[in-house]
Amino acid sequence: MMKTKLLQNTNEDLEIAAELLQNGELVAFPTETVYGLGADARQEDSVRSIFAAKGRPADNPLIVHISDMGMLDGIVTEVPEIAERLAKAFWPGPLTMVLPKCDAIPEVTSGGLDTVGVRMPSHPAALSLIRMSGCPIAAPSANRSGSPSPTTAKHVMDDMDGRIAAVIDGGLCDVGVESTVICFDDDETIHILRPGLISAEDLEPFAAHVYVDEAVYTQIAADAKVASPGMKYRHYAPHAKIIPVDAPDHAAFAAFVQSQKQEGIFCLLFDSDPEIAGIPCMRYGDSGREQAHFLFLRFRELDEAGAQTVYVRMPKKSGTDLSVYNRLMRAAGFEVITL
Ligand code: TXA
Ligand code: MG
Repeated sequence: MMKTKLLQNTNEDLEIAAELLQNGELVAFPTETVYGLGADARQEDSVRSIFAAKGRPADNPLIVHISDMGMLDGIVTEVPEIAERLAKAFWPGPLTMVLPKCDAIPEVTSGGLDTVGVRMPSHPAALSLIRMSGCPIAAPSANRSGSPSPTTAKHVMDDMDGRIAAVIDGGLCDVGVESTVICFDDDETIHILRPGLISAEDLEPFAAHVYVDEAVYTQIAADAKVASPGMKYRHYAPHAKIIPVDAPDHAAFAAFVQSQKQEGIFCLLFDSDPEIAGIPCMRYGDSGREQAHFLFLRFRELDEAGAQTVYVRMPKKSGTDLSVYNRLMRAAGFEVITL
């Protein structure tokens, strides 16, 4: 087993990490969304080892991270005008755009597709690492496949210790859910493949049409042909069984949870909800922004607390909240209790 170095967000340690990447090693690093598990996107063997370390299916493509617009030349064959306008507005930031890939990006990176997802992260450590290494960095979230995405360096260590060369500790991630992934059906149509902090409403001023892929709301069959392969896999789940409860108000939710009382029961409440007598609870905020920040952290804390079954107050489906709704529904296998 390899020894995984825990590095700090300092120039000296970032230099060490940059050199590891150049040498084909895997380095986990903080971004503003979640921690990424990085390799040089152009080195086939390194990228292959990302899939091995995560236990990730080979048809699930990776996102390539850049630090400046000039790097796009070596990654995509074409940047449509709409993509340029979006990059000006949202990069660096949590937006991934799917564009036609060029030959320098091997098919392992793109999961066999002729397109590639690209994003410029805003976390200073991520930007420095890309600059110092000179590599476009292919990076999925740094969790074992199926687990919640990591939002601290400790989460990465819990999943990846002994499997990767190093982790850079950049503290708790700000956004907490992964980037918004979009593609363009044509010059005027933005197709949201995965919702994130940047919402459909945020994108509307930039295109005549913005729509959200069906896979965001519903379970997709494992053998289905989908626009974004990542969406068909069950994801983000803690060991505890997650049960979203669509209740008209807190009182109805509390009464239902009381009626389900059993060993290992927990609930995940909004901050404004009162306690539920006799039921252990955790909270994940009131706004979509807060819920996104806390969701994956709470998933991991619930497992540590020994939760078996977790009843969760349902987030909204609009704006940034849709990203929370999507992650929760996927953790629950799209099963909800409606009161
Ligand atoms: O915030 C994020 O995006 C984080 C950080 C590390 O940047 N990364 C991340 O990567 O979430 P990952 O691999 O866990 O998710 C990538 C998603 C998957 O749903 C995948 O299907 C989609 O992006 N994707 C990537 N390339 C694609 C492509 N060429 N076409 C369609 N979907 C693509
Ligand atoms: Mg992931």
